[in-house]
Amino acid sequence: MRIGVLTGGGDCPGLNAVIRAVVRKGESVYGHHFVGYRDGWRGPLTGDTVALDTAAVRGILPRGGTILGSSRTNPYAAVDGVDLIRRNLAADGVDAIIAIGGEDTLGVAARLHADGVAVVGVPKTIDNDLSATDYTFGFDTAVNIATEAVDRLHTTAESHHRVLIVEVMGRHAGWIALHSGMAGGANVILIPERPFDFDKVCAFVESRFATHYAPIIVVAEGATPIAGTMATSDTELDAFGHVRLQGIAAVLETEIRGRTGRDARATVLGHLQRGGTPTAFDRWLATRFGLHAVDAVHEGDFGVMVALHGTRIDRVPLAEAIGELKTVPAELYAEAAVFFG
Ligand code: F6P
Repeated sequence: MRIGVLTGGGDCPGLNAVIRAVVRKGESVYGHHFVGYRDGWRGPLTGDTVALDTAAVRGILPRGGTILGSSRTNPYAAVDGVDLIRRNLAADGVDAIIAIGGEDTLGVAARLHADGVAVVGVPKTIDNDLSATDYTFGFDTAVNIATEAVDRLHTTAESHHRVLIVEVMGRHAGWIALHSGMAGGANVILIPERPFDFDKVCAFVESRFATHYAPIIVVAEGATPIAGTMATSDTELDAFGHVRLQGIAAVLETEIRGRTGRDARATVLGHLQRGGTPTAFDRWLATRFGLHAVDAVHEGDFGVMVALHGTRIDRVPLAEAIGELKTVPAELYAEAAVFFG
């Protein structure tokens, strides 16, 4: 078989590990051939390919980003997008596609499968918000980067008796905030699933100062105050209709200063959480996803996504994989709240 591989959506550490595993096993065990598509769905849409064989994937296991490039291109927003993809796959002699992506990229994969294109999905996102898999690779790396930032902010916050606010990514899910906040011993963790009360946040801040420590607040980019509106830095939408989230830490900074008179400063971690080398866990998970994805293609089991359940890799229907956003349940947040204040 000739198999196309693409990476779509926001990049994350571990994408290259998937590509390497797919190609290494596909060539050496099954004798398949591969072609890389550049920049997510833009590749098959425009016929933009790159050579992909064992030589091309040497040395990429620990490298962040993606050798194939990524974009948030939505072929269903393009005129005749599906027909163009079909035509380009036929011209390239490609029998099937392995699409590595999050909710949006896999949403396109599910629609293409329904439209008769042979696709297998691999879940990735630092947000960890896909309900069909216990974890996505990229998440562990992002959590470790955010945790290190919290550790570092503790010492400087205490030197200056300041409130330091760390804004982390995660879109509409609070997983990165929850895990890094717990691991870093945050004073308060604010997540999108639970609108927050400014007065309570300020009370936590004061109780922390009362114990002669300085408060660190970890806030997810999608968190909102009760009865507030979503803080956004602009109103521009991407091809999948998502607004860019950023700015809640600055709002908190102003409010905490105004209400408590304390010095408060915001740090926005932004794309630092997505760049650089993947953790061992993410390399392990990404590699296993790649091995199992190429098995699915080899067996002709299309329209599925590989998923982690416990330590087992299963296949789940793509439609199920993108059905529901996985958000932080109340009981997990309650565990973290034991340490607030
Ligand atoms: O979905 C991954 C993610 O990093 C989110 O956490 C964040 O909201 C978004 O992508 C940022 O996207 P971009 O890199 O396009 O600004």
